[in-house]
Amino acid sequence: MLKHPDLRMRRLREKAPVRDMVRETRISAANFIYPMFVTCGENIREEIEPMPGCFHTSIDRLSEEIDEVVELGIPSVLLFGLPPEKDAVGSGAYDPEGIIQEATRTIKEMAPGLMVIGDVCLCEYTDHGHCGVINGEKIDNDVTLELLARSALTQVQAGADMVAPSSMMDGQVRAIRETLDAHGYEDTPIMGYAAKYASSFYGPFRVAADSTPQFGDRRSYQMDPANRRMAMREIESDIAEGADIVMVKPAMAYMDVIKEARDRYDYPLAAYNVSGEYSMVKAASRAGWIDEQPVTMELLTAIRRSGADIIISYHAKEVARWLRGEA
Ligand code: PBG
Repeated sequence: MLKHPDLRMRRLREKAPVRDMVRETRISAANFIYPMFVTCGENIREEIEPMPGCFHTSIDRLSEEIDEVVELGIPSVLLFGLPPEKDAVGSGAYDPEGIIQEATRTIKEMAPGLMVIGDVCLCEYTDHGHCGVINGEKIDNDVTLELLARSALTQVQAGADMVAPSSMMDGQVRAIRETLDAHGYEDTPIMGYAAKYASSFYGPFRVAADSTPQFGDRRSYQMDPANRRMAMREIESDIAEGADIVMVKPAMAYMDVIKEARDRYDYPLAAYNVSGEYSMVKAASRAGWIDEQPVTMELLTAIRRSGADIIISYHAKEVARWLRGEA
């Protein structure tokens, strides 16, 4: 390798157009999926306290945000639902007239070109807050599979372009794939939350989705944050079950996992920049301790640099604006 004075790394940093020319990682609105919280009731548009800039929105007011998302060039939204009632088996998740199903119909009517992704899980719909059906204090994996498959099917029947199972039940991708195929939806893709960790960074989301487990925690189904090799096995199993896109979640504290998944698998890779990651940036910037725009861009660029093709982020709308040069 050349050395100074023959080597001058700074030559490529001197002028902005040169820096721009040699930039290895770029982000654009097209890389983003914007998560939204759709709530039952009418005329609701309430900011979620721990997630400034994110809202609980009722179906009749969805157009306000959907118009914005479309105008900003964000290709896709990921829907979470807050149902009117919860029960032990999460009936609201697979009700053909459920909150997500209705919201999907409304959005597809409003903006047919916007890709709607349904999050498939029971935790927002169960009174105990777990992601599956319980049997005593145990989460019953195989009984849950059928309910997840019904949730996905009703979402797709309502017009969802893609489904994203996030409950971390073993076999969830396969169960959904089989059910979709059996009903003629063999062309609908599945984005598997393949390596989803039992993370404390989900705290603000659980306030937003009212999905905090009423007993215990999610460590019997979500991954131990200490494990990297196991994440590769999770991704491998999602691929084997038929996932079209795989995911690592959260993103910021797991970039080594993203990097390794990128190196190992030739599948499109999504990273979920989760609620706690978003809230930390918002809180510190509100306190005047960090500058939100450059810090956010740096973090999201790092997620892309580590290997993610797709970023699911609550910052998506702001990023799209910043990329256009708006404040
Ligand atoms: C549902 C689900 C969760 C998130 C996405 N889907 C919560 C959880 O697993 O507790 C978290 C998203 C975020 O924190 O932004 N299972």
